[in-house]
Amino acid sequence: MSAQWKRTHTCGELRASDVAQTVTLNGWVHRRRDHGGVVFIDLRDRYGITQVVIDPQTMQADQGAVASVRNEFVLSLTGAVQTRPDGTRNPNLPTGDVEVHAAGMRILSVTKTPPFDLNNPDLEVDEAIRLRYRYLDLRRAEMQQNMALRHRLIKAVRDYMDAEGFWEIETPILLKSTPEGARDYLVPSRVHGGNFYALPQSPQQLKQLLMVSGMDRYFQIARCFRDEDPRADRQPEFTQLDIEMAFVERDDVMDVIERLYLQLADTLSDKTVQTRPIPRIPFAEAMEKYGCDTPDLRFGLELVDVSDLAQNTEFRVFKDVVAKGGIVKGVRAPGCGDYSRKQVDEFTTLARSLGAKGLVSIAVDDEGLRSPVLQHLGEAAASRIAGALEAEPGDLALIVADQPDVTNAVLARLRLEIGDRLGLRDPNTLAFCWLVDFPLFEWDEDESRWSFVHNPFCGPFPEDEDLVESDPGSARSLQYDLVCNGWEIGGGSVRAHKRDLLEKIWLTMGFTPDQIDEQIGHMLEAFSFGVPPHGGIAMGLDRTIAIFADEDSIRQVIAFPKNQQAVDLMTQAPSPVSDAQLEEVHLALRAKREE
Ligand code: AMO
Ligand code: AMP
Repeated sequence: MSAQWKRTHTCGELRASDVAQTVTLNGWVHRRRDHGGVVFIDLRDRYGITQVVIDPQTMQADQGAVASVRNEFVLSLTGAVQTRPDGTRNPNLPTGDVEVHAAGMRILSVTKTPPFDLNNPDLEVDEAIRLRYRYLDLRRAEMQQNMALRHRLIKAVRDYMDAEGFWEIETPILLKSTPEGARDYLVPSRVHGGNFYALPQSPQQLKQLLMVSGMDRYFQIARCFRDEDPRADRQPEFTQLDIEMAFVERDDVMDVIERLYLQLADTLSDKTVQTRPIPRIPFAEAMEKYGCDTPDLRFGLELVDVSDLAQNTEFRVFKDVVAKGGIVKGVRAPGCGDYSRKQVDEFTTLARSLGAKGLVSIAVDDEGLRSPVLQHLGEAAASRIAGALEAEPGDLALIVADQPDVTNAVLARLRLEIGDRLGLRDPNTLAFCWLVDFPLFEWDEDESRWSFVHNPFCGPFPEDEDLVESDPGSARSLQYDLVCNGWEIGGGSVRAHKRDLLEKIWLTMGFTPDQIDEQIGHMLEAFSFGVPPHGGIAMGLDRTIAIFADEDSIRQVIAFPKNQQAVDLMTQAPSPVSDAQLEEVHLALRAKREE
């Protein structure tokens, strides 16, 4: 026998066709209005909101109890479904044609006053409070929609991968510390004092070993852990769609993901995919035109290198930078020629905050050019530079001179700032692009050695294999990244599966044979037992869902995220543990922690 309070319908279900039925609804009080005795309650659950009318004349329930009801109480309400009187129907609510006239009410749970108003979508609530009470925050419609989208998207991914012949295989969370580029989270071993597991930064090595095992097509919705400083698009733990495939080339992996992502975009988002098939951009071209390897292609405004023109001016700053191997590049801000000094200064402040030593602005109008450095540059040279940047009357040209990495990083950010200010980053568009032809190695200034660009198993172009030793900086890799609206949403590569090639790559990165053996000896050993050529990719699902949901931060699409300091404000993790616990795992804290 079911309890008397059990619901017959959800709060999103009732329609005009249900009129005259007696129903029981369970849910939270979204809103309570007292109209002089008659009380209106909007009862809410995951499915929707239904209006319930409590008329003291017709309801036998204890009137004191009715009076005690507040927002967010959990109630069971029983009554007859009636058509709402003319003029009171609510077309914005799926249940808006009807209301339930309560005959009985049961309070399932009383509530304290919530720390913030849950039924006001416009209310700005401090994120720290939302995270502290995340279980309440998740009651809000916006968050419920995000969780629903997350569920549907991951379900669609699983269905697609299954239909494509992939097996989902789980890999361990307690693992060996392995190099992936970020810092590991370590877990001390109780059984083996002084030894540690590491939480996986990704299942990279295991999925490659599954290829050695002949699993052919593997995927996993994998939780990954990286001890990095969190940002809007970065969490210490996050979720990847992780894939590995045997006997494939670059195009095979890209094709599986391209078809998946276009399908997800078509079925789970109202946004329009800007270009199909997804365009491919070589890394070098992306750096040249956009200053970064995550270009937002929803708008143009490409960067232009004006080093040659700048070098031939009398402006010391430009000449010196070019003489020292730097570059001078600029970007056009259409229609910003009439920006005030203060507005231009905002660009300069932004540029400086990113490491620029300054920012040259040239405003173009019908009368001519205006620039704080017009005298230094000379009218003719300034005009040629503005022309090279395609600045027309009404436009503002912004120019940075520095070493290539700084110049590009600053201009990439300025370009986005201009895009934001001019409303060019259309939220209704999904501009996907593939980044390809990355270099295999980058020079690590701090450690004075070559380091991998993507991951230490990434393979070079077959025709560049000799360059790994002879000219590492010129070797191109079989890496591919998927970018959408300026976010890197995935990356992968065809792997170096030949033992000697992998060893050569690691030697180039400065590892000794002993160190190589220690770090990836198990991989090399596995590869000596018959390894298929293989490749894979990992898609950042949190980022994918955030873009689909129009959210600026992945915290908005993760049920229980950490804050920017990697703290879980709800459970207060990380937190101290007892001395006994420490002793069990053979640890002693070096410095007494601050009380
Ligand atoms: P990579 O390190 O590029 O590749 O990661 C793949 C994708 O995961 C997402 N991502 C993150 N999302 C949220 N928070 C983070 N801290 C975070 N770090 C990464 C990004 C990124 O594109 N093993 C390789 C894949 C492979 O080669 O198959 C890897 O993990 O969207
Ligand atoms: P200064 O000679 O430092 O007074 O700079 C003169 C102008 O050049 C100022 O408008 C600076 O913002 C600008 N400037 C200085 N250094 C750079 C640089 N590296 N790139 C672009 N503009 C710069």
